[in-house]
Amino acid sequence: MRGKESDFDGFFTIMQIKKLFLQNFRNYESENFEFSEGLNVLFGKNAQGKTNCAEAVFYLCTGTSLRIRHDKQLVKIGEQSAKITAEAENRYGKVLIEAEISENKREIRVNGGKISKNADLLGHINSVFFSPGELRLIQDGPDERRRFMNVSISQNSAPYYTALLRYNKILDQRNALLKNPDYTLVLDTLPVWDEQLCKYAATVVKKRVEFLDKLAPYAKEMHAYLTDNAEELVLRPERKYEGEEGEIAQTLARRLANNYEKDMRLGFTTVGPHRDDIDVLINGIDAKSYASQGQQRTAALSLKLAEVQIFKEISGEYPVLILDDVMSELDLPRRKKLLQRVHGMQTLLTCTHAERVLYGADCRKIRIENGKIKR
Ligand SMILES: Nc1ncnc2c1ncn2[C@@H]1O[C@H](COP(=O)(O)OP(=O)(O)O)[C@@H](O)[C@H]1O
Ligand SMILES: [Mg+2]
Repeated sequence: MRGKESDFDGFFTIMQIKKLFLQNFRNYESENFEFSEGLNVLFGKNAQGKTNCAEAVFYLCTGTSLRIRHDKQLVKIGEQSAKITAEAENRYGKVLIEAEISENKREIRVNGGKISKNADLLGHINSVFFSPGELRLIQDGPDERRRFMNVSISQNSAPYYTALLRYNKILDQRNALLKNPDYTLVLDTLPVWDEQLCKYAATVVKKRVEFLDKLAPYAKEMHAYLTDNAEELVLRPERKYEGEEGEIAQTLARRLANNYEKDMRLGFTTVGPHRDDIDVLINGIDAKSYASQGQQRTAALSLKLAEVQIFKEISGEYPVLILDDVMSELDLPRRKKLLQRVHGMQTLLTCTHAERVLYGADCRKIRIENGKIKR
């Protein structure tokens, strides 16, 4: 049976991974998973393969993993290539996603058709990943917050993803040019690069503005929910941009031109979306510098749950939510609130002791031991 009846529009489906097959992926030799459309709990001792399984799901959704530098880390040590296959479903129907990863090559197929660029993978199955490492979102420098935006917006907008890739490429070339000792040449060439740079930058900036405009109220609501209204979370772009893409491009071009000398002296580009940040405030105070770890953790969770809402708003479907090892870090009321929040979406939750964190919640339990399901 597909979907459930809803009194609103007849039928709705839940975006979900139904089956997952892993071959020579991380510490898995060959394993088949079957997930339910609700809460799935992967449990077992440390270093058994729980996160690896969650990572495989995220990889099939996004074509990337948040903990690798190179795809080859995903291939089981001693093997040539890894395979991940998922039978999934979204509101348009069934989706088969297959990835084959080897040292210097990877091939991804969607419904049997080989895709030529990562942008073509994005949006079939969306995923939001939350792990204790996400604390970096609040604690670390702007890189983490930009990465959060990039991964999230890209899943909903292939134009964003493409603009970002092009922007980064031109930026690299611009930075190389800035290191050229021939000042006259640099000054003559910069405006040529900058026209292109500003065009793609404007797309990136505009989409980020739209994303933040949506994210901020959801994050505030989630944080209030998780703290019983004790705390107010405010997200604010560090730099304001006004208007449509044309106007944003002009603003950026001006800022770039004003910084020619500085950029040449430093040898890199000092303004642009690759330098932008989001200010995160809890009760009016900068969370990065002043909030406790517990507050920061709650803020990071609020951001992620807000991201879930944005996916729902944009695509009409909840993403597959991955909660990796986060329950043990939350206090009891927050765990319960989190579990209440995940109703209606497929969730993969990893933990060491299922009984201790779930309080009898309705779920499918999968025990993982040494790269295998313990049946
Ligand atoms: N490419 C790889 N080949 C073989 N084993 C790997 C590979 N990458 C990671 N592992 C192993 O996977 C295990 C960690 O799995 P992980 O899913 O992170 O554990 P956990 O169950 O604690 O979440 C470690 O024992 C690690 O050595
Ligand atoms: Mg783990």
